[in-house]
Amino acid sequence: MFDEGQLYAPVTADEDGKATVHLADDHPGANDDAYRRRRNEIAAPALAWQPGEPVPQVDYTDSENAIWETVCRELAPKHERLAIRGYLEGKESLALPTDRVPQLDEVSAGLGPLSGFRLHPAAGLVPLDVFYGSLADGVFHSTQYLRHPSQPLYTPEPDILHEVVGHCNLLANPAIAEVKRRAGEAARRCETAAGLQYVADVFWFTIEFGVMYEDGELRAYGAGLLSSYGEIEEFRGADIRPVDFDQMATLAYDISHYQPILFACDGMGELTDRVAGFFADFDDEVAARLARSSA
Ligand code: TRP
Ligand code: FE
Repeated sequence: MFDEGQLYAPVTADEDGKATVHLADDHPGANDDAYRRRRNEIAAPALAWQPGEPVPQVDYTDSENAIWETVCRELAPKHERLAIRGYLEGKESLALPTDRVPQLDEVSAGLGPLSGFRLHPAAGLVPLDVFYGSLADGVFHSTQYLRHPSQPLYTPEPDILHEVVGHCNLLANPAIAEVKRRAGEAARRCETAAGLQYVADVFWFTIEFGVMYEDGELRAYGAGLLSSYGEIEEFRGADIRPVDFDQMATLAYDISHYQPILFACDGMGELTDRVAGFFADFDDEVAARLARSSA
Protein backbone atom coordinates (compact mmCIF):
# COMPACT_ATOMS: atom_id res chain seq x y z
CA MET A 1 0.00 0.00 0.00
CA PHE A 2 1.34 3.36 -0.98
CA ASP A 3 0.33 6.59 0.66
CA GLU A 4 0.05 9.44 -1.84
CA GLY A 5 0.77 11.84 0.99
CA GLN A 6 4.41 10.82 0.73
CA LEU A 7 4.91 12.32 -2.73
CA TYR A 8 8.27 13.90 -2.59
CA ALA A 9 8.57 16.66 -5.14
CA PRO A 10 5.35 17.58 -6.91
CA VAL A 11 5.79 19.88 -9.93
CA THR A 12 3.35 22.65 -10.76
CA ALA A 13 3.12 24.79 -13.90
CA ASP A 14 2.44 28.54 -14.06
CA GLU A 15 0.45 30.07 -16.93
CA ASP A 16 3.62 31.28 -18.64
CA GLY A 17 5.08 27.76 -18.80
CA LYS A 18 7.36 28.12 -15.80
CA ALA A 19 7.67 24.96 -13.71
CA THR A 20 8.08 24.87 -9.95
CA VAL A 21 9.38 21.77 -8.20
CA HIS A 22 8.24 21.64 -4.57
CA LEU A 23 10.90 19.79 -2.61
CA ALA A 24 9.88 18.30 0.74
CA ASP A 25 11.43 19.96 3.82
CA ASP A 26 13.70 17.00 4.49
CA HIS A 27 14.93 16.73 0.88
CA PRO A 28 18.73 17.12 0.83
CA GLY A 29 18.33 20.05 -1.61
CA ALA A 30 15.50 21.78 0.24
CA ASN A 31 17.65 24.74 1.37
CA ASP A 32 19.87 24.98 -1.70
CA ASP A 33 18.51 27.75 -3.92
CA ALA A 34 20.78 27.00 -6.86
CA TYR A 35 19.69 23.35 -6.81
CA ARG A 36 16.01 24.34 -6.68
CA ARG A 37 16.43 26.73 -9.64
CA ARG A 38 18.17 24.02 -11.61
CA ARG A 39 15.36 21.56 -10.84
CA ASN A 40 12.80 24.07 -12.13
CA GLU A 41 14.89 24.71 -15.23
CA ILE A 42 15.13 21.01 -16.10
CA ALA A 43 11.44 20.38 -15.32
CA ALA A 44 10.00 23.09 -17.62
CA PRO A 45 10.70 21.50 -21.06
CA ALA A 46 9.69 18.04 -19.78
CA LEU A 47 6.41 19.46 -18.48
CA ALA A 48 5.65 21.16 -21.81
CA TRP A 49 6.70 18.13 -23.90
CA GLN A 50 4.15 16.27 -26.04
CA PRO A 51 4.61 12.79 -27.52
CA GLY A 52 5.90 13.07 -31.08
CA GLU A 53 8.11 16.06 -30.27
CA PRO A 54 11.88 15.63 -29.92
CA VAL A 55 12.80 14.65 -26.36
CA PRO A 56 14.27 17.69 -24.55
CA GLN A 57 18.05 17.66 -24.28
CA VAL A 58 19.68 18.84 -21.06
CA ASP A 59 23.00 20.64 -21.12
CA TYR A 60 24.47 18.98 -18.02
CA THR A 61 26.99 20.95 -15.98
CA ASP A 62 30.41 19.70 -14.94
CA SER A 63 29.19 19.14 -11.40
CA GLU A 64 26.18 17.13 -12.62
CA ASN A 65 28.48 15.00 -14.76
CA ALA A 66 30.70 14.57 -11.70
CA ILE A 67 27.78 13.19 -9.64
CA TRP A 68 27.02 10.75 -12.44
CA GLU A 69 30.63 9.64 -12.54
CA THR A 70 30.91 9.26 -8.75
CA VAL A 71 27.78 7.15 -8.50
CA CYS A 72 28.75 4.95 -11.49
CA ARG A 73 32.23 4.44 -10.07
CA GLU A 74 30.94 3.56 -6.58
CA LEU A 75 28.28 1.23 -7.95
CA ALA A 76 30.42 -0.75 -10.41
CA PRO A 77 32.13 -3.11 -7.91
CA LYS A 78 28.93 -3.38 -5.85
CA HIS A 79 26.99 -4.46 -8.93
CA GLU A 80 29.58 -7.16 -9.62
CA ARG A 81 29.19 -8.48 -6.10
CA LEU A 82 25.48 -7.93 -5.43
CA ALA A 83 23.46 -7.67 -8.68
CA ILE A 84 21.88 -10.60 -10.52
CA ARG A 85 23.60 -11.91 -13.67
CA GLY A 86 20.73 -10.76 -15.90
CA TYR A 87 21.35 -7.18 -14.76
CA LEU A 88 25.10 -7.39 -15.34
CA GLU A 89 24.48 -8.75 -18.85
CA GLY A 90 22.03 -5.95 -19.62
CA LYS A 91 24.46 -3.36 -18.29
CA GLU A 92 27.24 -4.75 -20.44
CA SER A 93 25.17 -4.76 -23.62
CA LEU A 94 23.77 -1.24 -23.10
CA ALA A 95 27.27 0.09 -22.32
CA LEU A 96 26.20 3.51 -21.04
CA PRO A 97 28.74 6.28 -20.53
CA THR A 98 30.09 6.39 -16.97
CA ASP A 99 31.85 9.79 -17.14
CA ARG A 100 28.89 12.00 -18.13
CA VAL A 101 25.10 11.98 -17.98
CA PRO A 102 23.63 10.50 -21.18
CA GLN A 103 20.69 12.14 -22.97
CA LEU A 104 17.40 10.20 -22.89
CA ASP A 105 17.48 9.83 -26.69
CA GLU A 106 20.89 8.26 -26.50
CA VAL A 107 19.66 5.69 -23.99
CA SER A 108 16.57 4.98 -26.14
CA ALA A 109 18.79 4.40 -29.17
CA GLY A 110 20.69 1.76 -27.19
CA LEU A 111 17.57 0.10 -25.74
CA GLY A 112 15.59 -0.08 -29.00
CA PRO A 113 17.49 -2.95 -30.60
CA LEU A 114 17.89 -4.77 -27.25
CA SER A 115 14.29 -4.80 -25.99
CA GLY A 116 12.25 -2.24 -27.93
CA PHE A 117 11.92 0.14 -24.98
CA ARG A 118 12.28 3.93 -25.28
CA LEU A 119 12.22 6.82 -22.82
CA HIS A 120 9.78 9.69 -22.44
CA PRO A 121 10.76 12.67 -20.28
CA ALA A 122 9.06 13.10 -16.89
CA ALA A 123 9.10 16.43 -15.05
CA GLY A 124 8.17 14.73 -11.79
CA LEU A 125 5.77 12.05 -10.73
CA VAL A 126 3.72 10.70 -13.64
CA PRO A 127 0.10 9.63 -12.86
CA LEU A 128 0.02 5.90 -12.03
CA ASP A 129 -2.18 4.88 -14.97
CA VAL A 130 0.07 6.68 -17.46
CA PHE A 131 3.34 5.52 -15.91
CA TYR A 132 2.41 1.84 -15.67
CA GLY A 133 0.10 1.69 -18.70
CA SER A 134 2.74 3.01 -21.08
CA LEU A 135 5.08 0.13 -20.18
CA ALA A 136 2.73 -1.98 -22.33
CA ASP A 137 3.86 0.13 -25.32
CA GLY A 138 7.54 -0.16 -24.42
CA VAL A 139 7.64 3.38 -23.04
CA PHE A 140 9.41 4.19 -19.79
CA HIS A 141 9.04 7.65 -18.23
CA SER A 142 12.34 9.03 -17.01
CA THR A 143 13.24 12.07 -14.95
CA GLN A 144 16.22 14.13 -16.15
CA TYR A 145 17.57 15.86 -13.04
CA LEU A 146 20.30 14.58 -10.74
CA ARG A 147 20.24 13.89 -7.02
CA HIS A 148 21.60 16.53 -4.66
CA PRO A 149 25.44 16.38 -4.48
CA SER A 150 25.45 16.28 -0.66
CA GLN A 151 23.97 12.75 -0.62
CA PRO A 152 24.96 10.84 -3.75
CA LEU A 153 24.67 7.43 -2.10
CA TYR A 154 20.91 7.55 -1.60
CA THR A 155 18.26 10.01 -2.75
CA PRO A 156 14.69 10.07 -1.40
CA GLU A 157 13.13 10.36 -4.88
CA PRO A 158 13.88 8.80 -8.27
CA ASP A 159 16.40 10.78 -10.38
CA ILE A 160 18.02 10.09 -13.76
CA LEU A 161 20.64 7.88 -12.11
CA HIS A 162 17.88 5.69 -10.74
CA GLU A 163 15.96 5.59 -14.04
CA VAL A 164 18.91 4.93 -16.29
CA VAL A 165 21.41 2.98 -14.16
CA GLY A 166 18.65 1.10 -12.31
CA HIS A 167 15.81 0.63 -14.80
CA CYS A 168 17.42 0.96 -18.21
CA ASN A 169 20.17 -1.57 -17.54
CA LEU A 170 17.36 -3.96 -16.54
CA LEU A 171 15.33 -3.03 -19.63
CA ALA A 172 18.38 -3.93 -21.72
CA ASN A 173 17.67 -7.53 -20.70
CA PRO A 174 14.81 -8.74 -22.94
CA ALA A 175 13.48 -11.27 -20.40
CA ILE A 176 13.14 -8.60 -17.71
CA ALA A 177 11.78 -6.05 -20.20
CA GLU A 178 9.04 -8.59 -20.91
CA VAL A 179 8.03 -8.65 -17.23
CA LYS A 180 7.66 -4.85 -17.34
CA ARG A 181 5.51 -5.07 -20.47
CA ARG A 182 3.23 -7.59 -18.70
CA ALA A 183 2.92 -5.19 -15.75
CA GLY A 184 1.95 -2.45 -18.23
CA GLU A 185 -0.69 -4.65 -19.83
CA ALA A 186 -2.09 -5.52 -16.40
CA ALA A 187 -2.31 -1.79 -15.58
CA ARG A 188 -4.11 -1.12 -18.88
CA ARG A 189 -6.77 -3.70 -18.06
CA CYS A 190 -7.54 -2.13 -14.68
CA GLU A 191 -10.79 -0.26 -14.33
CA THR A 192 -10.55 0.52 -10.63
CA ALA A 193 -8.06 2.47 -8.55
CA ALA A 194 -7.72 -0.57 -6.27
CA GLY A 195 -6.70 -2.75 -9.21
CA LEU A 196 -4.11 -0.25 -10.40
CA GLN A 197 -2.73 0.14 -6.89
CA TYR A 198 -2.33 -3.63 -6.59
CA VAL A 199 -0.29 -3.66 -9.84
CA ALA A 200 1.80 -0.73 -8.56
CA ASP A 201 2.44 -2.50 -5.24
CA VAL A 202 3.59 -5.74 -6.86
CA PHE A 203 5.76 -3.68 -9.23
CA TRP A 204 7.24 -1.94 -6.21
CA PHE A 205 8.27 -5.16 -4.43
CA THR A 206 9.57 -6.79 -7.63
CA ILE A 207 10.92 -4.46 -10.33
CA GLU A 208 11.73 -1.61 -7.93
CA PHE A 209 12.97 -3.49 -4.86
CA GLY A 210 13.12 -7.17 -5.73
CA VAL A 211 15.91 -9.51 -4.63
CA MET A 212 16.69 -12.98 -5.90
CA TYR A 213 18.52 -16.12 -4.82
CA GLU A 214 21.06 -17.00 -7.46
CA ASP A 215 23.46 -19.92 -6.86
CA GLY A 216 22.57 -19.81 -3.18
CA GLU A 217 23.39 -16.10 -2.79
CA LEU A 218 20.94 -13.27 -2.30
CA ARG A 219 21.35 -10.66 -5.05
CA ALA A 220 19.42 -7.56 -6.14
CA TYR A 221 17.39 -7.01 -9.28
CA GLY A 222 15.24 -4.11 -8.04
CA ALA A 223 16.10 -0.83 -9.75
CA GLY A 224 15.84 1.12 -6.48
CA LEU A 225 18.55 -1.04 -4.91
CA LEU A 226 20.73 -1.03 -8.03
CA SER A 227 20.86 2.78 -8.18
CA SER A 228 21.73 3.43 -4.54
CA TYR A 229 25.26 2.65 -3.43
CA GLY A 230 24.10 3.09 0.16
CA GLU A 231 21.05 0.84 0.13
CA ILE A 232 22.63 -1.85 -2.05
CA GLU A 233 25.00 -2.62 0.84
CA GLU A 234 22.11 -3.09 3.26
CA PHE A 235 19.54 -5.27 1.52
CA ARG A 236 20.94 -8.58 2.75
CA GLY A 237 20.08 -7.43 6.28
CA ALA A 238 16.41 -6.76 5.47
CA ASP A 239 13.52 -9.03 6.45
CA ILE A 240 13.57 -11.30 3.36
CA ARG A 241 10.30 -13.08 2.53
CA PRO A 242 9.20 -15.49 -0.20
CA VAL A 243 7.17 -13.93 -3.04
CA ASP A 244 3.58 -13.35 -1.88
CA PHE A 245 1.48 -11.00 -4.01
CA ASP A 246 -1.34 -10.38 -1.53
CA GLN A 247 1.23 -9.51 1.13
CA MET A 248 2.93 -7.08 -1.26
CA ALA A 249 -0.41 -5.40 -1.85
CA THR A 250 -1.22 -4.98 1.84
CA LEU A 251 2.14 -4.04 3.41
CA ALA A 252 2.68 -0.34 4.05
CA TYR A 253 5.91 1.05 2.58
CA ASP A 254 7.74 4.33 2.63
CA ILE A 255 9.22 5.30 -0.73
CA SER A 256 11.84 7.67 0.67
CA HIS A 257 13.73 5.43 3.12
CA TYR A 258 15.66 2.15 2.97
CA GLN A 259 13.24 -0.77 2.64
CA PRO A 260 13.00 -2.97 5.76
CA ILE A 261 11.03 -5.81 4.06
CA LEU A 262 11.94 -7.35 0.71
CA PHE A 263 10.65 -10.33 -1.28
CA ALA A 264 13.04 -12.82 -2.87
CA CYS A 265 12.50 -14.73 -6.10
CA ASP A 266 14.08 -18.15 -6.25
CA GLY A 267 16.12 -17.60 -9.43
CA MET A 268 15.27 -15.83 -12.69
CA GLY A 269 12.54 -18.39 -13.44
CA GLU A 270 10.38 -17.17 -10.59
CA LEU A 271 10.55 -13.63 -11.99
CA THR A 272 10.02 -14.45 -15.66
CA ASP A 273 7.38 -17.16 -15.04
CA ARG A 274 5.61 -16.55 -11.76
CA VAL A 275 5.77 -12.74 -11.48
CA ALA A 276 5.23 -12.23 -15.22
CA GLY A 277 2.40 -14.81 -15.07
CA PHE A 278 0.82 -12.94 -12.18
CA PHE A 279 0.73 -9.73 -14.26
CA ALA A 280 -0.48 -11.65 -17.34
CA ASP A 281 -3.46 -13.07 -15.41
CA PHE A 282 -4.21 -9.96 -13.39
CA ASP A 283 -7.52 -8.14 -13.52
CA ASP A 284 -9.48 -5.98 -11.07
CA GLU A 285 -11.13 -9.09 -9.61
CA VAL A 286 -7.79 -10.05 -8.00
CA ALA A 287 -7.80 -6.77 -6.09
CA ALA A 288 -11.50 -7.03 -5.30
CA ARG A 289 -10.99 -10.51 -3.81
CA LEU A 290 -8.18 -9.23 -1.62
CA ALA A 291 -10.33 -6.30 -0.46
CA ARG A 292 -13.15 -8.71 0.47
CA SER A 293 -10.85 -11.08 2.34
CA SER A 294 -9.25 -8.30 4.39
CA ALA A 295 -12.56 -6.53 5.12
N1 TRP B 1 16.89 5.66 -3.31
C1 TRP B 1 16.97 5.62 -4.74
C2 TRP B 1 18.41 5.96 -5.19
O1 TRP B 1 19.19 6.45 -4.42
C3 TRP B 1 16.02 6.60 -5.40
C4 TRP B 1 14.61 6.41 -4.93
C5 TRP B 1 14.00 7.04 -3.88
C6 TRP B 1 13.65 5.56 -5.44
N2 TRP B 1 12.70 6.65 -3.77
C7 TRP B 1 12.48 5.75 -4.70
C8 TRP B 1 13.67 4.66 -6.45
C9 TRP B 1 11.35 5.03 -4.97
C10 TRP B 1 12.54 3.94 -6.72
C11 TRP B 1 11.38 4.13 -5.99
O2 TRP B 1 18.74 5.75 -6.33
FE1 FE C 1 11.88 3.28 -10.31
